[in-house]
Amino acid sequence: MTRTPGRLEGKVALITGIGGGMGRDAARRFAAEGAKVVGCDLDAETLEETVRIVREDRGEITGFAPVDAGDANTVEAWIDEASAVYGGIDILYNNASIQRFGAIDEISVADWEFAIDMELNIVFYAVRAVWKHLKARGGGVILNIGSIAGTRGVEFMPQNAHGAAKAGVINLTQQLAVEGGPHGIRAVSISPGFIQTPATRFLVDDPPPAMKATWDRIPLGRIGQTDDVVNAAVFLTSDEASWITGINLVVDGGGSVLG
Ligand SMILES: NC(=O)c1ccc[n+]([C@@H]2O[C@H](COP(=O)([O-])OP(=O)(O)OC[C@H]3O[C@@H](n4cnc5c(N)ncnc54)[C@H](O)[C@@H]3O)[C@@H](O)[C@H]2O)c1
Repeated sequence: MTRTPGRLEGKVALITGIGGGMGRDAARRFAAEGAKVVGCDLDAETLEETVRIVREDRGEITGFAPVDAGDANTVEAWIDEASAVYGGIDILYNNASIQRFGAIDEISVADWEFAIDMELNIVFYAVRAVWKHLKARGGGVILNIGSIAGTRGVEFMPQNAHGAAKAGVINLTQQLAVEGGPHGIRAVSISPGFIQTPATRFLVDDPPPAMKATWDRIPLGRIGQTDDVVNAAVFLTSDEASWITGINLVVDGGGSVLG
């Protein structure tokens, strides 16, 4: 039986952090849309589980682990190898990150630097490594995951380092759009609101009251699910979005328009 071509048919898509949460669902969905997914994760066990799930769905995927996308040389080696194996790269989806929180008079220099490394530098390293491959391909798409934390402060979470790093990701994306345009490279970011993932499950089960109060005010009446972000990711990385670059698409049920 012939399959209807997907929205990402034949695209070689690199996705960081496919071992869990939104990264796992992105790997599944991108493969279901016809992409050749090349994923990485720090955690070999959870990555293997994602690879198994995608292959069970008859998707095309190769997984590399352990790969620390927060290490410039490691991520460059992963990207170069992916390009050599698949003959080029069309999409880089910077999903992986690790957060460190702390009020401004409490957060240590080490935690601040860790957060900047694992939320902002991690994106730069992959972009830096993929750029020549996208240029050689005649274009492509870079999708960076920001956060609404990068656009404002909140009283319920001491997000100093996290918010600063994500603001950096959003701004870097704009500059990449400017520099990438002449090469046919689009750069976009998605800024999710609160999304239910295994990493945030404990908050869903027992939310701090101030956080719950913001969820109760979300105009569309619920917190986010991984599909809400992945649906936007499929559109933005597909050719349907070929005249869209430099944007930061907020996916938050309308929560942030309330201020
Ligand atoms: N969950 C939310 O509410 C939310 C909201 C806004 C933005 N985000 C952003 O969305 C992205 C995904 O979030 P999630 O909740 O799905 O995360 P998650 O913690 O559930 O999954 C992240 C995956 O990335 C992997 N990873 C982490 N650091 C890595 C590294 N250095 N190298 C390789 N792999 C690494 C982890 O092992 C894990 O499999 C992150 O960038 C996060 O900041 C999440």
